[in-house]
Amino acid sequence: MINVAVLGYGTIGSGVVEVINTNNALLKENIRDDIQVKYVLDLRKFPGDPVEKVLTDDFNVILNDPEVDIVVETMGGIHPAYDFSKAALEAGKNVCTSNKAVVAECGHELMTIAKANSVNYMFEASCGGGIPIIRPLYSCLTGDVIEEITGIMNGTTNYILTKMFEEGASFEHVLKEAQDLGYAEKDPTADIEGHDPCRKISILSSIAYNKQMDYKDLYCEGITKLTAEDFKYAKKLGAKVKLFGTSTNTKDGIAAMVAPFMIDSSNPLYSVDGVFNAIFVKGNMLGDAMFYGSGAGKLPTASAVVGDVVEMARHLHETVNKVWSDEKISIIPQEKVMNAFFVRVKGSVSEEGKKVTELFGNVRFVETQELPGEFAFITEAMPEGEFNRKAEQIPGIISKIRSRLA
Ligand code: HSE
Repeated sequence: MINVAVLGYGTIGSGVVEVINTNNALLKENIRDDIQVKYVLDLRKFPGDPVEKVLTDDFNVILNDPEVDIVVETMGGIHPAYDFSKAALEAGKNVCTSNKAVVAECGHELMTIAKANSVNYMFEASCGGGIPIIRPLYSCLTGDVIEEITGIMNGTTNYILTKMFEEGASFEHVLKEAQDLGYAEKDPTADIEGHDPCRKISILSSIAYNKQMDYKDLYCEGITKLTAEDFKYAKKLGAKVKLFGTSTNTKDGIAAMVAPFMIDSSNPLYSVDGVFNAIFVKGNMLGDAMFYGSGAGKLPTASAVVGDVVEMARHLHETVNKVWSDEKISIIPQEKVMNAFFVRVKGSVSEEGKKVTELFGNVRFVETQELPGEFAFITEAMPEGEFNRKAEQIPGIISKIRSRLA
């Protein structure tokens, strides 16, 4: 019998219990052993819920029970999630999590402790919810040098951007609607400011490049400055605006950032709308691959967690995944990162556009009758520092969005 303890009976934790109970016969076949949830840790009571039978509010009961093989951490936040995970690993128990905050901050340390104790620390659900991406990076793609990972890794912001595009609505209006419908958190800061995808791209990059990427080193820009007017231009250009977490492995080093990008239909991420996520991976032998699906939500995320549970149940006393090196990735300074820009400016192409051409050379101008008194231009790719120095010399810049238009 494989005994599982679930820490936290919130959305994901209750999903994990549901998946283990609903698909128990299948899991038993896959593991070739019985599996049950022996404990659920939560300080709350759940009167009438069958979970009552296995509920405990004392982590030590789980820690000191030698029958517990696998601990599922679905608490969220760093403390006590990190402390409980560490203690469980040191006690020789396998741990898996959906908690990207802990993985981004302490993943290397927890994997090292797991290895020292011949157990596993797994986190498939921490990036892309139900989409398999971590296991492919750890196994299927290990024959490739990974050249790029670019993803739409946040369902909340992709939902907001999709609505802004489809309805021409303002950011504030769509955010309020998303909160009323329960799609966006009451405090949506981590999503809309890009902190959530920043942690996710750091985790994926650490695996892909086998070095520690510190999410705090990344340039991180969310979607709060985007306006309905930006989307009028996007429509005119046959483009969409998407929040990317992206890292590229260049000859000069690794560039990584989170920011909104304007893309057209030639980009494989163009059709990823609503709460869906997708992660594009380029390998030096593989070429392009894309992983698409439900990036958030109770059962998709729980499905990924239970995938880890099965893997760990098959390897209870053997560490499966390589621990990435603790050498820190030195990210290319943002001013040296190459990007093209879409820029809105007050004035007209015939007047203010002259200065734009003088400074930026070969640009593409865009005007729309819907927005008189302004125009936009799209630069070629250039180091961000060069763009900033030139842009400072143009009076009346309204906004800018990075561009990956073909
Ligand atoms: N808040 C996250 C999102 C949850 O909207 O994608 C999944 O990590």
